[in-house]
Amino acid sequence: MGQLVQSDTIIGADDRILVTGATGFIGVRVVRSLLALGFRNVRCFSRPSSPASKVQDLLQLGGNGNHVEMVTGNLLSRQDCKAGTEGASVIVHLAAARGEKSIPDAFMNSVVTTRNLMEAGAANGCLKRIVNVSSFSVYSNRNKPERRMLDENCPVDRHPELRGDAYTFVKVKQDEILAEYAQRLGVPYVIVRPGYVFGPGNPGISGRVGIGTFGIFLHLGGSNKIPFTYVDNCADAIALASVKQGIDGEVFNVVDDDLPTSRKFLGLYKKNVRPFRSIYIPHFMSYALCYLWERYSDNCHLHITGGFGMGIGKKPVIPMTN
Ligand SMILES: NC(=O)c1ccc[n+]([C@@H]2O[C@H](COP(=O)([O-])OP(=O)(O)OC[C@H]3O[C@@H](n4cnc5c(N)ncnc54)[C@H](OP(=O)(O)O)[C@@H]3O)[C@@H](O)[C@H]2O)c1
Repeated sequence: MGQLVQSDTIIGADDRILVTGATGFIGVRVVRSLLALGFRNVRCFSRPSSPASKVQDLLQLGGNGNHVEMVTGNLLSRQDCKAGTEGASVIVHLAAARGEKSIPDAFMNSVVTTRNLMEAGAANGCLKRIVNVSSFSVYSNRNKPERRMLDENCPVDRHPELRGDAYTFVKVKQDEILAEYAQRLGVPYVIVRPGYVFGPGNPGISGRVGIGTFGIFLHLGGSNKIPFTYVDNCADAIALASVKQGIDGEVFNVVDDDLPTSRKFLGLYKKNVRPFRSIYIPHFMSYALCYLWERYSDNCHLHITGGFGMGIGKKPVIPMTN
């Protein structure tokens, strides 16, 4: 990626950029992309429990005029947020709960953390933008014209609590809290929504392709195109969204060109990564299975959301954490 013209960016090369979730799958690459763009002052926020190898990878990116600094803490702590955001002109917010099954845990590590970060960032007096890394999972397939591509104009799920998926629920709530606090605190923001991010470090197969269950892989995607983005391309997009002028308030979906269909991807995966057995489930059959599953889980979702003091249609009450 080439260097950016300074007049095209909201900050100078030596202004501080804070990257949260810097030791994560995408985070390390985002730091690399920012440095490749010519930004020389990057602060990386990580938890004490973050893998030491990732911390080493980040520290090695310093030198040659690049200042890469590690700050350790937890975004649930307002004190740690204050220390992390000190002097930051841009915050690239990648930290989030991934793979959490529990809604309260996911909510704490994605939504409460975002609020704490925004409050601390706004108070530092020099914040010019926060970039929130959201997800395709926030979009609803309802009311989408037949076969229309999932783009930034598609509606966001208004009832994520009904999906019974902690990740989707908290990503919607994270975007909501971002917009609410941005307005309240006067902080400009940009939202980036990557599709399914693949590359070294993430050997999994997207649920959009199918699911492995009882030792067999059910291939559901068929001829659907899967919204993949290679991790380095995704990181470049996030880095650009962090510094480009004139994009405040925008949402950007990130996918690669020439997307493969689910069928093509599965064939390539079996050939190049590992062979395994799969059964293709045609759309009408998966639709019927989903219908039955939805009926079954109808009885469960009230139980799940009710446990965190959030009834359907009610606004969640954010716990105060220091
Ligand atoms: N991977 C994908 O396919 C994909 C697709 C769309 C969107 N996204 C979004 O992209 C972002 C980055 O994803 P990723 O795949 O890089 O995730 P990841 O590898 O799981 O990294 C998440 C990072 O967040 C940190 N974190 C979590 N809770 C924290 C807290 N309370 N305080 C401080 N740090 C905390 C984790 O720290 P530890 O290292 O200590 O655990 C980790 O470094 C997320 O917002 C995710 O929702 C990812």
